[in-house]
Amino acid sequence: MKIIHAKDYADMSRKAANIISAQVILKPDCVLGLATGTTPIGAYHQLIDWYKKGDVDFSQVKTYNLDEYRGLTHEDPQSYHYFMNKEFFSGINIDLANTHVPDGANPDAEAACKAYDKMVADAGYPDLQLLGIGRNGHIGFNEPADAFSKGTHCVDLTESTIEANSRLFEKEEDVPRQAYTMGVQTIMNARMILMVANGKNKAQAVHDMCFGPVAPSCPASILQLHANCVVVADDEALSLCEGQY
Ligand code: PGA
Repeated sequence: MKIIHAKDYADMSRKAANIISAQVILKPDCVLGLATGTTPIGAYHQLIDWYKKGDVDFSQVKTYNLDEYRGLTHEDPQSYHYFMNKEFFSGINIDLANTHVPDGANPDAEAACKAYDKMVADAGYPDLQLLGIGRNGHIGFNEPADAFSKGTHCVDLTESTIEANSRLFEKEEDVPRQAYTMGVQTIMNARMILMVANGKNKAQAVHDMCFGPVAPSCPASILQLHANCVVVADDEALSLCEGQY
């Protein structure tokens, strides 16, 4: 695991965007695994800026998002599909036919997850997988559990995730209780992992991810076993890791 220290959110976002843009420049038809959440928004906006300046071209890039709420259509403003269009895809020259998010509107969880796993496998898995981390150490919607998950599957969200995500909904009752998420094994198949984290409320999770035991009680800890995992985190998120890297 390589840990890159950033001063603050803006610095973290620029450093992450630099790594993603280097990937796209080196391999214009690369496969990117993408993440939603508040943390990656700054990196997405920075990439839009560089695209507009002519520095990076997304015309051949394919993307696969980590997860989607179960029961939301792609047009629902709370869906991750909608989020990706709003925060990233609408600002760059990506072909929307090359962007993929699990189909939350398919009520047949098994079929939806199987189809998504096949799509990601057929694409050869991401060259670079961008990740955020939950306060409870989750990656995608792989919540703390007794075992690491494998392929894409349907999960019940934990109370802590529902509460954390309720800030983006009018009422906590509106937060969907289930999601379809890539499994930990699918995530580990990416050739490079780029984890971004900022803020004090991520400090414990970042510490456990980087220096705790590799255990499904902190799903992100599995990244210690990945051959090419880069963590870009700010001062506050790294505050419990001082002197350890
Ligand atoms: P956040 O979410 O970026 O909104 O903090 C990260 C996550 O839960 O994976």
